[in-house]
Amino acid sequence: MENIISLRGICKTYGKGDGLVTALRPIDLDIKKGEMLAIMGKSGSGKSTLLNLLAGLDTPDSGEYIYNGEHMNTKNQNKMAKFRRTDVGFVVQHFALIDEYTVYQNIALPLRYRRLKGVSTKQRVKEIAERLEIGEKLRKYPSQLSGGQAQRVAIARAIAHKPSILLADEPTGALDEETGKSIMNLFKEINKEGTTVVVVTHDANVASYCQRVIRLHDGNIIGENVNAE
Ligand SMILES: Nc1ncnc2c1ncn2[C@@H]1O[C@H](COP(=O)(O)OP(=O)(O)O)[C@@H](O)[C@H]1O
Ligand SMILES: [Mg+2]
Repeated sequence: MENIISLRGICKTYGKGDGLVTALRPIDLDIKKGEMLAIMGKSGSGKSTLLNLLAGLDTPDSGEYIYNGEHMNTKNQNKMAKFRRTDVGFVVQHFALIDEYTVYQNIALPLRYRRLKGVSTKQRVKEIAERLEIGEKLRKYPSQLSGGQAQRVAIARAIAHKPSILLADEPTGALDEETGKSIMNLFKEINKEGTTVVVVTHDANVASYCQRVIRLHDGNIIGENVNAE
C-alpha cells in the first residue's frame, strides 16, 4: 500500500532562550493508506505535538510533511484550512463538543463547510448517528450525555464529512475501561471501512487495537512494533 503520510526530519520546538523546549527531534515516519497506527509514550514525550502537526493544526520548524504526495510545507493558510476541513477528522480526550448546540447541531457542524454530494446534511447526520448508536440523542445537549455517548457524538462529528484520516488524541482517556473498549472497536470498524486512523495513547490496551505501534520518548521515535491480527 502506498503512504498517505510521510514525515522526513520533522523538528518542533516551543518557546525560546532559556524557555526553549524541544518537543520533536528529527522524526521520520511513514503511514500507509488504510493503516491503523498507535502513537505511545509518556506524558510530555511529544505525542500531541506530532498529532497536531499531522492534522495541520501546527507547523514544524523544519522537515518535510508529505500528504498524498503533496508537500504540505509549501501550502498557504487557505489550502491548509481546506486540508483540515476535508481530509482530517480529529477527536480529543474531553470530546470538545459545543455545549450550547444539540447533538444534531454538533454533528452537522463540519457539513456546513463540506457538503457531501447527493446527501442532505439531515440524512447524513441521521445515518452517522444511527451507525454510532446515538440516533436517539439528536435533540439532547452534551450535558445530558454519558462520557461514552459524548465521545460517540465527537466521533460522529469527526467522520460526518468522510475524512481520509481520523486522528485521535487520548480518545479513551476520560472513559472507563468498558466504554474505552467500545470506542476502540468503533475506531477499528471505521478503519476497516478504509479510513486511515492514528490514535495517541499511553495505554497499551488501547494500542493493542492498532496494527502498528510506535513509541515516542523525549521527542524521538524509540521503537516500533507490529501487532498480530
Ligand atoms: N504550547 C506549548 N508551549 C510550550 N511547550 C509546549 C507546548 N506544547 C507542548 N509543549 C511541550 O512540548 C513537549 C511535548 O508535549 P506534548 O506533545 O504535549 O506531549 P504529550 O502529548 O506526549 O504529553 C513537552 O515538554 C511539553 O511541555
Ligand atoms: Mg498529549
